[in-house]
Amino acid sequence: MRKNYEKQIRELREKMTLEEKIGQLQQCGPSLVGAFEVSFEELLDMMFDGRISQEEFDKLMGTAEQDYREEELRAGKIGSYNGIGDAATVNRLQKIAVEETRLGIPLLFGYDVIHGFRTVTPIPLAESCAWDPVLWEKTARVAAEEATAGGVHLTFAPMVDVAKDARWGRISEGAGEDVLLNSAYGASKVKGFQGEDLAKEDSMAACLKHFAAYGAIEAGRDYNRVDMSMQRLWEEYLPPYKACVDAGARAVMPAFNDINGVPCTVNARLLRDILRKKWGFDGLVISDSNAIAECVSHGIAEDKKDASRQAILAGTDMDMSSDSYIEHLKELIESGEVAESVLDEAVDDVLRLKFELGLFEQPYQTDEARERRTMLKPEYRALALEAAEKSIVLLKNENHTLPLKPETRVGLFGTLAADKGQMTGAWAIGADPEDCVSIAEALEAKGISYQYSADGADLEKIASESDVLIAVVGESKEESGEAASRAGITLHPEHLALVRKLNATGKPVVAVLFNGRPLAIPELDQTASAIVEAWHLGAEAGPAVRNVLFGDVNPSGRLTTTFPAAAGQCPMYYAHMNTGRPGGKSKFTSKYLDAPVEPLYSFGYGLSYTAYAYEELKIEKAENGLRVRVTVRNTGDRSGEETVQCYVQVPCAGRVRPVRELKAFTKITLEPGEAGQAALEIAYDSLGYYDREMNWTPYEGKLKVYVGGNVKDTIVEEIHLL
Ligand code: BGC
Repeated sequence: MRKNYEKQIRELREKMTLEEKIGQLQQCGPSLVGAFEVSFEELLDMMFDGRISQEEFDKLMGTAEQDYREEELRAGKIGSYNGIGDAATVNRLQKIAVEETRLGIPLLFGYDVIHGFRTVTPIPLAESCAWDPVLWEKTARVAAEEATAGGVHLTFAPMVDVAKDARWGRISEGAGEDVLLNSAYGASKVKGFQGEDLAKEDSMAACLKHFAAYGAIEAGRDYNRVDMSMQRLWEEYLPPYKACVDAGARAVMPAFNDINGVPCTVNARLLRDILRKKWGFDGLVISDSNAIAECVSHGIAEDKKDASRQAILAGTDMDMSSDSYIEHLKELIESGEVAESVLDEAVDDVLRLKFELGLFEQPYQTDEARERRTMLKPEYRALALEAAEKSIVLLKNENHTLPLKPETRVGLFGTLAADKGQMTGAWAIGADPEDCVSIAEALEAKGISYQYSADGADLEKIASESDVLIAVVGESKEESGEAASRAGITLHPEHLALVRKLNATGKPVVAVLFNGRPLAIPELDQTASAIVEAWHLGAEAGPAVRNVLFGDVNPSGRLTTTFPAAAGQCPMYYAHMNTGRPGGKSKFTSKYLDAPVEPLYSFGYGLSYTAYAYEELKIEKAENGLRVRVTVRNTGDRSGEETVQCYVQVPCAGRVRPVRELKAFTKITLEPGEAGQAALEIAYDSLGYYDREMNWTPYEGKLKVYVGGNVKDTIVEEIHLL
């Protein structure tokens, strides 16, 4: 039960001046100031386009200091900071807010804790491949324990943007293409971050993002438009945000994009009608960075003042980093263009969260609390290792190339194999690369015999002295995340050239992929003996990969995004609709002339060192849904953990329905030869859809239920729901 602070909120708000109220809505980050006259961003541009040399830039940076705008803070004009993750700075600024401002209202500190704070865990896309809500919650808890020790009160996470387009760099920040998986992932993260009681010193508020449908931006190009039917929005994109709200997320970030012509930041239909009225959300809405001001570039606001008016009226409470509210809200209220009651509601949302976080009682990060939660504890690293191992997806394993025997002599190639700084992946802003373990270090630590070449020098010699060649290829951490869309999602030419040279030696080649998105790798699939998808796994990347390569761990990860066979297939996803002419042999069917219509690796796919067979699928009607039971048998000679996936297809309805929809999943651990029964449930509610007029329609006809280890390899039963 959440405590009710409405009386305290009202009493405090009634004491506030107009300026103090507006100050509560102002969130800023530290900016860099120094002996330069233009902004830091402009300076960067000048260096990139050659107006100043690298040396001049470095010299100017030598004069730079963080500017926290302390005079404004003293004057009660700042309510929150983002991007500060050290307790000393947090405490210093907090002291000014508490002791030197007129009302002593504590500050709220937000930070991007996306996949770990100091102990970096796998990027969300990787961790989603574990299909493991318990694990997702545990890693979020560790992130909260560390981040709160660094003074953080709120994380800008989880990101639950369903993402079906591998070109989008931010696909790395979420749980992939499926609506059910993103919902489960988001709800677990919210619980983990927030803990049982938000007021506890190791709980931080979750700010779900990016509301809404950011993952559907056109052509996968970051910040682009979103244009879609209401049915699609409600069925395929909104449920994960709703799941996070239901799990208790106390903050929401509107997305940068517009939906059908209205940017989310000024979208009252989204922020007021859906989020607050329909879903009952009474937390804080924080704009994305500079997003209010950017409504001018969108062409929906004349200037920052107009943008501020539209944003606050639409329900965006707090202005992240654009100074729009602080510059314009006062005149908007005084002129009557915005009613003061609208401002009051926004202020209440800020104060409510500060009360709920217990900041009025304990605004500081105490030394005692910090000591109890030292960073990188052995148990944190152990969890990071477990998460990394469970995130790895084995994509190919010809002739049992893997696992390797302990005495195998390894030839290790590629810069990513030894670059610990690259292991974190995107958005690990609190991380220290020194904390990460590379593959080379992990082999060394276990005394495994290996020779390493970063760039392929001495390739023939190393190959002749090795039993297996490992090529570590893929993407750097800068190639996914924000502002990192790619039009071609194939292997880089130099990586492909390395693999070709290794193949030419005739020795078995194992490709280990580090990447933040699905890659189109048909040639690698044809030529490598084995492919290990390792994503960006965080602090324990090296040991996790080693443990899978050498069989200490039986890989169990399953893809949560489809791997296209060619970039031109994007967006590609399993839950697509059929056309009137599904892709087939005839020319006049839905397909490409120059690429297959099938993906390279399907959703849900992933190999292991054992194999599973599915039999005896039984479906029973129960009161609220279908009960599905299936027998899974471990037919190989190693114990393993299988992810049992249950899909449905509605063959005929009032609107066209997807060819498959994931409705349930569970995990089962089986010894060699052992058979076990997996039980799953499909709620009747989850089978409904929006009809042509946007009425929610329960589905009552014939249903096909598919169960298996990935979306393509399933057994099927039919059932009539009525
Ligand atoms: C990103 C958000 C992030 C924010 C604060 C923005 O550019 O879109 O996801 O939380 O910056 O760092």
